[in-house]
Amino acid sequence: MANLQALVHALVLLGLALSCTATTYTVGDNSGWDISSDLESWPVGKKFVVGDVLLFQYSSSNSVNEVTKENFDGCNTTKYLQTWTNGNSSVPLTTPGMIYFVSGNQLYCLGGMKLQVNVQNNANSTAGAPLAGGPSSMPQPTSKSNDPSTTSSGFVHGGRDPLVLAFIGFMAAVLWMV
Ligand SMILES: *[C@@H]1O[C@H](CO)[C@@H](O)[C@H](O)[C@H]1NC(C)=O
Ligand SMILES: *[C@@H]1O[C@H](CO)[C@@H](O)[C@H](O)[C@H]1NC(C)=O
Ligand SMILES: *[C@@H]1O[C@H](CO)[C@@H](O)[C@H](O)[C@H]1NC(C)=O
Repeated sequence: MANLQALVHALVLLGLALSCTATTYTVGDNSGWDISSDLESWPVGKKFVVGDVLLFQYSSSNSVNEVTKENFDGCNTTKYLQTWTNGNSSVPLTTPGMIYFVSGNQLYCLGGMKLQVNVQNNANSTAGAPLAGGPSSMPQPTSKSNDPSTTSSGFVHGGRDPLVLAFIGFMAAVLWMV
């Protein structure tokens, strides 16, 4: 029995670790945020989701500006939404959609030192939110309150990550078989 508890404990920890995974991408990889980097092709084949982080590494004479699409297209580097200048900037991706960065140096931007990234919704971490938020999803208070299926379905709807649910299902199967 002790071994089984250790196994279940390990599985819970593994499930939590997997559900919290966020990726940090170093922009431009080894060449970094630099005029020499091929920043147009760098995002190709990568999947960016909400919660991931872009790490910009650059010389102290440079900077990173987040801009609108219009100012990205036109390399209008002065009208920025946010700017980073410390040479080693972690930028968390917090909202789905396109996000645009340019060098603070307009000539570098015109030379290709600009980056656009498509941030996808992390469906697995937000799938439960609409169900949990709506008033109509409140459990009925009366006759069904002692029905065990009520609690179990409420638990599933409150769950955030199918991976975690898969682990819970797996653990239930283990417990059933032992
Ligand atoms: C940048 O945009 C602002 C406002 O849209 C404009 O006033 C300014 O002239 C633009 N600068 C350049 C260099 O295009
Ligand atoms: C740059 O930032 C990252 C993430 O915050 C950190 O892990 C790394 O050690 C930093 N590198 C330098 C050279 O400061
Ligand atoms: C969500 O989970 C499904 C199945 O586990 C997986 O295929 C998909 O890539 C996940 N999506 C995200 C954005 O993590």
